[in-house]
Amino acid sequence: MTILIRGGSIVSESATSEGDVLCDGERVAQVGKSLSAPKGARVIDARGKFVFPGFIDPHVHIHLPFMGTLAKDTYESASRAALLGGTTTLIEMVCPSRRDDPLEAFDLWMSKAVGRSACDFTFHMGVTRFDDTTEAALSEIVRRGVTSFKVFLAYKGAFGVDDAELYKTLALAKRLGVVVTAHCENETLVSERCRELLARGRTDPGAHHESRPPEVEAEGVNHLMTFAELTGAEVYIVHLSCAEALERALAARARGVKVSIETLIQYLILDKTHAERPGLEGAKFVMSPPLRDKRNQRVLWDALKRGDIDTVATDHAPFDVATQKRMGEADFTKIPNGIPSLEDRVSLLYTRGVEGGLLGVHDLVRVASANAARRFGLYPRKGVIAVGSDADIVVFDPAHRGTISAATHSMAVDYNAFEGSPVIGRAETVLVRGEVAVDEGRFVGTIGRGQFLARQGATP
Ligand code: URP
Ligand code: ZN
Ligand code: ZN
Repeated sequence: MTILIRGGSIVSESATSEGDVLCDGERVAQVGKSLSAPKGARVIDARGKFVFPGFIDPHVHIHLPFMGTLAKDTYESASRAALLGGTTTLIEMVCPSRRDDPLEAFDLWMSKAVGRSACDFTFHMGVTRFDDTTEAALSEIVRRGVTSFKVFLAYKGAFGVDDAELYKTLALAKRLGVVVTAHCENETLVSERCRELLARGRTDPGAHHESRPPEVEAEGVNHLMTFAELTGAEVYIVHLSCAEALERALAARARGVKVSIETLIQYLILDKTHAERPGLEGAKFVMSPPLRDKRNQRVLWDALKRGDIDTVATDHAPFDVATQKRMGEADFTKIPNGIPSLEDRVSLLYTRGVEGGLLGVHDLVRVASANAARRFGLYPRKGVIAVGSDADIVVFDPAHRGTISAATHSMAVDYNAFEGSPVIGRAETVLVRGEVAVDEGRFVGTIGRGQFLARQGATP
């Protein structure tokens, strides 16, 4: 298929140019002005619209057995939701339990995606135990093209690793030249504080924040920074939520620690008062680290603008209210953690960030596409519109007005944390490797066409 996208504002992380993009087969063939359409080509009129490289969500959960339940999305529903929101590549966390064999877990996660995804995908390999067999298994997974690991400093007794396991994982990652992504919260502080809160009769969702205040996250970040410094490993802090944690990460970066930082769309827009709502209303907003005091939002936006924070992800964790968030009605420690948002990241970033004057369109490309591609070994195949790159393209209509609602979203959950939020702009036409997957805002993609992206190491 040949597609000519004509007359749009083509946006990269550093420039905007008015012109055309010619896609031939799966790749971008030409970028320029007044390109002529080859015979039989489909022409997409992009006048008055932005032409963005496909967006990348570097932190997604789809198959997620967690807290006694299983997240609701499948690759069919999640990839459809991703594409409707302009995300053409997602990176899912493989999250085995401590008992599981890593290679078997990797094969299981892969089997959930291959033949079922409409968008491209890859994984961060969760390391939830480190014993005598782990090095060989992880080395094999890296050979298969998964060049990033994931560790949890939280979730004691579930995914969490101890310090010896953390040290060995980082040392191995350094030897293999792969990056380690990390959930940073001090798990001992969390479990002790949960115990104290429950003993005082605090069972409400609002207590979740008190069990893991900013210092708990800052301590987790500091902990990771120390281990990264001593091993020389490259690390990536997932879902950083607050000023205190940012300060520790930037101090480490300033002394030479190789650290990248991700925040989430949830932290930029929602705050802890949402989770303080009584009962199930509050449970909808329980995630870890928790939604923070509103003052942190400006800190995070400013850090994105300056380039101190590298990426905005969703940490999409699709648990429903009717059967899952409800599990924690009488005890906040049993609320499955996570806020689904895969579909809404780009429109919210555009609305609140770009239209709100906090980010420019180039910043949007940088934090929602290019940096993730670079960090995780996908650039310049992804993250940029350039000759030879994959034809992953979002024609974005800034004139569109919409309202977010669970009644119309495609994620397989019964609520939307941004319910009723007005949004400016939408991904009107979305191409994945040269095939139209969203047309006039409707999903027309092919389930199963999404490819596993075997990766090399990060691009500096
Ligand atoms: O609350 C969260 N973040 N849920 C998903 C699992 C994780 O920690 O990434
Ligand atoms: Zn996490
Ligand atoms: Zn996560």
